[in-house]
This record gives sequence, structure tokens and C-alpha cells, in this order.
Amino acid sequence: MPRALLIVWHSSTGGTRQMAEAAAAGAARERSVASRLARAGEAGADDVLAADGYLFATPETLASIGGLMKDFFERCYYPALGKIEGRPYAAMICAGSDGEGAARQIARIATGWRLRAVAQPLIARTHALTPEAILAPKTIGPDDLARCEELGEMMAAGLAAGIF
Ligand SMILES: Cc1cc2nc3c(=O)[nH]c(=O)nc-3n(C[C@H](O)[C@H](O)[C@H](O)COP(=O)(O)O)c2cc1C
Repeated sequence: MPRALLIVWHSSTGGTRQMAEAAAAGAARERSVASRLARAGEAGADDVLAADGYLFATPETLASIGGLMKDFFERCYYPALGKIEGRPYAAMICAGSDGEGAARQIARIATGWRLRAVAQPLIARTHALTPEAILAPKTIGPDDLARCEELGEMMAAGLAAGIF
């Protein structure tokens, strides 16, 4: 069985989606790892249990993870508790100006699951501040997308090499 990387994402205005897709493109360079993008609203506990490592990608809203991401964690938390301990994860956050609240929240959830953080949270800031800018479609810059790609590649390479 190839080792599997699950990239769970939610996005309202496209920023997080671009980040998740960039991470998936990086992970795809490691051909021996099966990496998969899953929308937070569609991913469930079976997907979590079937994967060997995780990338959680979410917008920050109201200093928290996005609502559908929270719904994903709420649906999966107890079905997966005690069954995924020690597996590697990293978080990617798309934020207007902050991102730390969402990063802390994912770290708390991952601590509960006893996952192992293998990278610092990756935060891309769009600098959207006005209501119009917040609601507008987002374009993540090449530097941030490159960081996401590297993170995906690193996760997949670590899984392939059995480091994680
Ligand atoms: C209701 C709402 C609340 C938000 N709260 C925050 C916040 O607390 N901190 C922050 O940095 N950005 C905040 N933002 C900005 C979003 O993080 C930003 O627009 C980001 O690009 C959303 O990601 P997405 O493009 O993947 O949907 C908020 C946006 C919305 C719509």
C-alpha cells in the first residue's frame, strides 16, 4: 500500500484553495505517495483513518478556523481519537492580517489527537481589510504558493522515506 497524504481544505474566496492545490502539486512530485485533496465539507473519519499524514488548510475567520473546517474536526474527532496517534501533520492558514488564532486552534485539536507537528503553521496573509476586499476573490502570491508547494513536497517526501 502506498503511504497516503490527506489535504483537507476549505475556502470561501479562493485563497486557501490555491494554497491547498499548491501543496498537492508539491506532494505529487513524490510519486510513491498517494496525496489527495478533500474538501472539508466532504471529508470524513474514514478519510482521516485511511491517511498516514495530514495537511489542514483553512481560512482564519473571527480569529478561528473556518466554520466548515471546524465541522470537519467535530465530525471526525471522536471517531479518530486514539487511532491516529503519532501521525504527522502541518497546517496552512489563509488570513487577512493575522492567522495565529486559527493556527493555535489547529494545534490544540492536533494535540488532542496526539498528532505530530512536522512544520510550523504556514500563514499566507492577503491583507484584505475592508468588507469589499474581504469578500473579493483572492490571489495568493507566488512566494506564498512556493512555500505551500515546498510544504506539500516535504510532507510527501517524509512519508515516502519513512521519516514520519
Ligand atoms: C467573516 C470573516 C471573518 C474574518 N476574520 C478574520 C480574522 O479573524 N483574522 C484574519 O486575519 N482574517 C480574517 N478574515 C479574512 C480571511 O481570512 C481572508 O479573507 C482569507 O483570504 C479567507 O480565505 P479564503 O480566500 O480561502 O476564503 C475574515 C474573513 C471573513 C469573511
